[in-house]
Amino acid sequence: MIPLPEIEPPLINASGILSYPEVFAAFESAGACLGGYVTKSVGPREKPGNENPVVVYPPEGAVLNSLALPTQSAEDWERDLEEIKLKNAKLIVSVYGGDSREFAGVTRRMSRFGDAIEVNLGCPNKEPGEQTIMESIGQNPALSAEVIERVRDETDKPVIAKLSPNSDYLAVAESCMNAGADALGCGNTLGPGLAVDIQSRAAILAGTTGGISGPALKPINLRMTYEAYARFRCPIVAYGGIETWEDAVEYILAGASVLGIGTAFMRKSTHEAAALTRDIWEGVQEYLGGEPMSALIGAAHRPADGGGSDA
Ligand SMILES: Cc1cc2nc3c(=O)[nH]c(=O)nc-3n(C[C@H](O)[C@H](O)[C@H](O)COP(=O)(O)O)c2cc1C
Repeated sequence: MIPLPEIEPPLINASGILSYPEVFAAFESAGACLGGYVTKSVGPREKPGNENPVVVYPPEGAVLNSLALPTQSAEDWERDLEEIKLKNAKLIVSVYGGDSREFAGVTRRMSRFGDAIEVNLGCPNKEPGEQTIMESIGQNPALSAEVIERVRDETDKPVIAKLSPNSDYLAVAESCMNAGADALGCGNTLGPGLAVDIQSRAAILAGTTGGISGPALKPINLRMTYEAYARFRCPIVAYGGIETWEDAVEYILAGASVLGIGTAFMRKSTHEAAALTRDIWEGVQEYLGGEPMSALIGAAHRPADGGGSDA
C-alpha cells in the first residue's frame, strides 16, 4: 500500500466546496489551518451540471445539493493545476467518470498534479436522463473494483476510494481495497433527499432531489468510518457534518486519520471559513493535550469490537 502523504494539520476541504485552485490560494492567504486541499471532482469533459436552484438549506441541519458534478474541461484543469502554488499543503485531485475507462483517462491526465488521487464513487446527483455514479458504479462492488484497478494502473500516487453511504459500503470497500486502493473516503453525501416548496407546490431543486450533507449526515458517515476502520484498519479520510472540534475528535476516535470539511464552509466568507479551520484544529490539539493524534485514531473501538451496531 502507498501511504497517504503527510497532511499536517490533518484537515482538508471536501471536494465540491471551496475546491478550485484560486480559492486554495485565498484560503492560504487568510491563514487557513488546512494541511491539504481537494479539487472539485475532475471529469472527462466539461459539464454544466444542473441549473439553479442547486442548493437548499432546510431547517433540519441538513443541506441538499443537486449540482450533478459540474466541471470545467480537463484542459482547463491542467492549466489551472499547472500554476497552483501551495505553501506546505498537499493537493488531492478528485476524479470521476462514467465508466472505468473514463476514470482511468482523467487519472492519467491529473496524476502528476496530485499528492493523492481521490476517486469519487458515490455522488448521488444527476442531470435529467443521467445515471448517477452512485447508481452506476458506487453501489456495485465489482464495478467499483474495476474503476480502482484502472485508476491504480494510471498513477503511482496513493488512491483514496471515496464511498457512498447509500451502498453496502463495506462490500464496496473490500473490493476497492483488494483492487489496490490505499485509503477509504467515508464518505459522500446521503440520499438523495427532497425539499418541497409549499408555495409553488413543487420540488425546490432543479434536479428534483439532492445529496444530503451537513450535521444530519454525521451519525451515518461516522458509523461508516467506525465500521470501515474496524474491518480494514486502513487510513480513512472522513467527511460528513464536521463543524466543530468535537465532531473532528469523534471521527478520529472512530478511526479517521484525515478530516474533511465541506458544508460547514458554505455561507461563510473565506476569512470566516479560515477561522473555522483554526478553531477546529486548536480544539483538537487542546483535547489531545500533547498526545500524538495517532494514539487516538480508532480509540473508540473496544478490543472485541467488530464495529457493528446490532444493539
Ligand atoms: C455543494 C456540494 C458539492 C459537492 N461536490 C462533490 C464533488 O464534486 N465530488 C465529491 O466527491 N463530493 C462532492 N460533495 C460531497 C462532499 O465532498 C462531502 O463528501 C459531503 O458533503 C459530506 O461532507 P460535509 O457534510 O462536510 O459537507 C459535494 C457536496 C456538496 C454539499
